[in-house]
Amino acid sequence: MAKFVNYKMQSRINKLPKIELHSHLEGTIKPELAHQLAKRNAISLDYCLFDDNGGYAWSNFASFLSAYDSVSSCLRKGEDYRDITYNYLKDCAGENVIYAETFISPDHAAECGISYGDMIKGIAQGIDDAENDFEIIGRIIVTCVRHLGPAQGLNVVQTMVNNPHPYVVGFGMGGDENAFTLEEFAPIFNVAEKAGYPCTVHAGEICGPENVWDAINYLPVSRIGHGVQSIFDEKLLTAIVNRNIHLEICPGSNLALGIFHDWVDHPLPRLISRGISVSLNSDDPPFFHTTVGQEYHDSAKNFELGDEVLKSISLMAMEASFVDTKTKSKLVNKIKNF
Ligand code: ADE
Ligand code: ZN
Repeated sequence: MAKFVNYKMQSRINKLPKIELHSHLEGTIKPELAHQLAKRNAISLDYCLFDDNGGYAWSNFASFLSAYDSVSSCLRKGEDYRDITYNYLKDCAGENVIYAETFISPDHAAECGISYGDMIKGIAQGIDDAENDFEIIGRIIVTCVRHLGPAQGLNVVQTMVNNPHPYVVGFGMGGDENAFTLEEFAPIFNVAEKAGYPCTVHAGEICGPENVWDAINYLPVSRIGHGVQSIFDEKLLTAIVNRNIHLEICPGSNLALGIFHDWVDHPLPRLISRGISVSLNSDDPPFFHTTVGQEYHDSAKNFELGDEVLKSISLMAMEASFVDTKTKSKLVNKIKNF
């Protein structure tokens, strides 16, 4: 049963320094920005993309992924990437997010005719502008798309490694967990790891614990995107603790996608009590009607988490981030001093 969160607690949650480790940049574009970009680029967005209230229309995981592709199609230039980055970080900073690591998809940019270089240049400009205006620090995790296959993934990782940028701090993969096997992606993740990029992968979101086993057995990952299905495998929970794997948890996304039907079914509190390192994240905010701040508030209310637990979640997230050690220790101290 949801607990009443009093005004004092709400205001403390508002002020708590927060960390986002799991958002997809193309999935942060709000409908009004999608319309603006489409107009600016003289593109007509598929009208099926929107529901009667002007929000994004989708009904299951497959239609969500295709709505995500449709929204991304409003982009045409590096400048568009600057604007979506800036808007996303501005919203985050408004909720006292002090550090945000966002997934970017060069495959989606390429579909729109945007080169890797222009994409990174635009995003880096958005990060710099947001840091100047709102003091938020942003970094980038380059991702490939699982259902596009390992050959395409190799192309993405090689492009990343051959074009280093100081804001690109890691490598990852999203997309449909039913497609291909994680073993087939091992050579791709090994390229990233050998070049010094820490890795994360979506696993155990819509598919079961076996997908998380594959992730930790075949890939050099220190984090798992979601991993919530691990709750159904005791041995896996122990392995996650022993191998110090961090889980990027997105409760609002899981509920919106129907992975868990109610907050009481969501495993976050059980993962925390098992001693697993977790963060709270928005995934694709306008698709799931959420934000990082909302995730902290909803978790406080529905899981009855006190402000010390929420603060420890920010700390676990910051420790698990892929940012350089100097920035990490500065931001860890900022959270500790709260
Ligand atoms: N791409 C964007 N959001 C995603 C999600 N929740 N799962 C897998 N791939 C994604
Ligand atoms: Zn995700």
